[in-house]
Amino acid sequence: MKYTIAAATAALAGLASARHCQNLTVEVDVSARNGRFNQSTPQTNVDVTNFILNLAQQGKNYSANVLEGYQTVSGKYHIAATYCQPDSGPAKTVQLLTHGIGFDRSYWDLPYANYNYSYVAEAVDTYKYSTFSWDRLGIAQSQHGEAVNEIQALLEVDALRALTQDLRKGGIWGVPCGFDKVVHVGHSFGSEHTYALTAMYPTISDGIALTGFSQNGSFIPYFAFGGNFISARNVSGLAKYNYPAGYLAAGDISAVQTNFFAPDSFDPAVLNIAYTTGQPVTVGELLTIGGETGSINHFKGPTFIITGERDLPYCGGNCLAPPTGYSSIPAAAIQFFPNATNPTAVVVPGAGHGLNLEYSHPFTYGKINDYFVQNGVGPNA
Ligand SMILES: *[C@@H]1O[C@H](CO)[C@@H](O)[C@H](O)[C@H]1NC(C)=O
Ligand SMILES: *[C@@H]1O[C@H](CO)[C@@H](O)[C@H](O)[C@H]1NC(C)=O
Ligand SMILES: *[C@@H]1O[C@H](CO)[C@@H](O)[C@H](O)[C@H]1NC(C)=O
Ligand SMILES: *[C@@H]1O[C@H](CO)[C@@H](O)[C@H](O)[C@H]1NC(C)=O
Ligand SMILES: *[C@@H]1O[C@H](CO)[C@@H](O)[C@H](O)[C@H]1NC(C)=O
Ligand SMILES: *[C@@H]1O[C@H](CO)[C@@H](O)[C@H](O)[C@H]1NC(C)=O
Ligand SMILES: *[C@@H]1O[C@H](CO)[C@@H](O)[C@H](O)[C@H]1NC(C)=O
Repeated sequence: MKYTIAAATAALAGLASARHCQNLTVEVDVSARNGRFNQSTPQTNVDVTNFILNLAQQGKNYSANVLEGYQTVSGKYHIAATYCQPDSGPAKTVQLLTHGIGFDRSYWDLPYANYNYSYVAEAVDTYKYSTFSWDRLGIAQSQHGEAVNEIQALLEVDALRALTQDLRKGGIWGVPCGFDKVVHVGHSFGSEHTYALTAMYPTISDGIALTGFSQNGSFIPYFAFGGNFISARNVSGLAKYNYPAGYLAAGDISAVQTNFFAPDSFDPAVLNIAYTTGQPVTVGELLTIGGETGSINHFKGPTFIITGERDLPYCGGNCLAPPTGYSSIPAAAIQFFPNATNPTAVVVPGAGHGLNLEYSHPFTYGKINDYFVQNGVGPNA
């Protein structure tokens, strides 16, 4: 039996490296101090637009206006995840991948064009890492919840904490071992969660890559308006998820293009996938997004930031128009990491916010993984 497997593996080795992936459900015990907002749950699309107009009004902090106080939310939640490892067995380092608004964990492993766009394929097949991607708490196949006062940023960050600790100690069903090192890769809101996680627990991670990220909140209103948000209950593709009111989705395909794709940087078929498989965001997430990256981060490990030159939500469409004294808007974020090892910011020429979905993805993936390898957090470091 052993001989047969070895022979089969050897026969395949010359052709293609086949990663092994497993879909899982993990139960996490989480607790967070959530905001309690005086915000009714938008029922109709008119309510949704009213909410966005309030949220993104310049010169005001709407979240602060409707914040009544705080309350602890805790409980057990089911998280849908996918674990992948190389043919040769698990790496010593696992990359924990957190997607952003508008997507689920498939953002990291797009099957289109024979997985040419897959970040997981690059990290596992080429670099030999193990990877663990999850649907953010509240989204897609993970457990949903009440959209205003329950599914908020810090509850999700606590789920990320729990998953990180589980991956270190082992014992997640379907994941063969505990890992020596856990590095965190986020996209957009997932990068904000990674930032908040390491700001709260500076020793929890061995390295971080924040993609589609900057510390500059000035352009979030572009995203809020660009998304042309409607109730997720009015999106036929989302019917199977049975989202309650207060989950908001992109109103049409052009909204997805505006927020995630730069001009001439993508295959229209990929834009179509991003729209048809798109996932919603909750009112509570939008009310708490601003509070996540406000504090200095004392994380000491390797810290990498990579953002598209034309990123809309984090650069207003031009990362190369920074405040005086910085080479780019993402590079200005480095001042918030006084203790990081070799903090580095890269701008992807011509790319928009949805880095994994654009023609430039090989550049992006190479930069992230090379950075990890060169900074002491390689797959078997
Ligand atoms: C995991 O689930 C997704 C759908 O949610 C499916 O497309 C994929 O093939 C599954 N992967 C494995 C390894 O079963
Ligand atoms: C909640 O908001 C409504 C208006 O949206 C306002 O009339 C009411 O006074 C607010 N309640 C509190 C406790 O602030
Ligand atoms: C949105 O869905 C609601 C029911 O959930 C329905 O009453 C309403 O007509 C729909 N609106 C549009 C514009 O489709
Ligand atoms: C707005 O208020 C919220 C809640 O008090 C706070 O977390 C956030 O940092 C504020 N945003 C800005 C830009 O001041
Ligand atoms: C955000 O970037 C813009 C453009 O460079 C700049 O004018 C503004 O001061 C920045 N804001 C913050 C908070 O860094
Ligand atoms: C972080 O860096 C600051 C300034 O360089 C220093 O004062 C502080 O002691 C460092 N903190 C840790 C936890 O290393
Ligand atoms: C994969 O994507 C890269 C970058 O967009 C492109 O240059 C290459 O032709 C693609 N390969 C295949 C097989 O589609």
